[in-house]
Amino acid sequence: MLSDTERRELEEAVKHYPDKRGAAIDALLTIQRRRGWISDDSLLEIAQFLEITVEELDSVATFYNLVFRKPVGRHVAFMCDSISCWIKGCERVQEQIKKLYDVELGQTTSDGRLTLLPIACLGQCGRAPAMMIDQDVHGDVTPDTIEQIVEKYK
Ligand code: FES
Repeated sequence: MLSDTERRELEEAVKHYPDKRGAAIDALLTIQRRRGWISDDSLLEIAQFLEITVEELDSVATFYNLVFRKPVGRHVAFMCDSISCWIKGCERVQEQIKKLYDVELGQTTSDGRLTLLPIACLGQCGRAPAMMIDQDVHGDVTPDTIEQIVEKYK
C-alpha cells in the first residue's frame, strides 16, 4: 500500500500534468526512489493511483529503461553501447568492469553493490565512451580509469 509520504509525492507529481496518466514516468521514478525498484505490487498501486491499467503502466515501465522492474544493487552503472561509444572502445571498458567486479551486463554483483546495465546514447558522444552511475555521468572512460570511477560508489 502507498505510504502517506508516497501518496503525497505522487499527488505533487501529477500536479504538473493535465491528466494523471501523463505523470506515469514521474510516478514510477518517485516510487522507485523510495523502494529501489518497481515490483508487481508497486506497479499495481501506482496504476490504481493514476487510474490506468497495470498493463498500460507496465508498457511505460518496460519501455523506459531507467525504471527497474527487477531488484537492483545499491548503485546502477549504465554502460552506453551506442555508436560513438562503440567506436571509441566501450567494449574494452565493459570487459574491464565485468572482470573487476565479476558481473555481467544485466546482473548485480554478489555483494549487492553494483548492477550493470546497457543503455543507449547518453548524449555525451563528445566524451565517449560514456557511462552513468546512478545520476552521475562519466565521460572519456577507459579500461584504466574505470576502477577509480566505480570505487567512489560503495
Ligand atoms: S553514443 Fe555513447 S554517449 Fe552517445
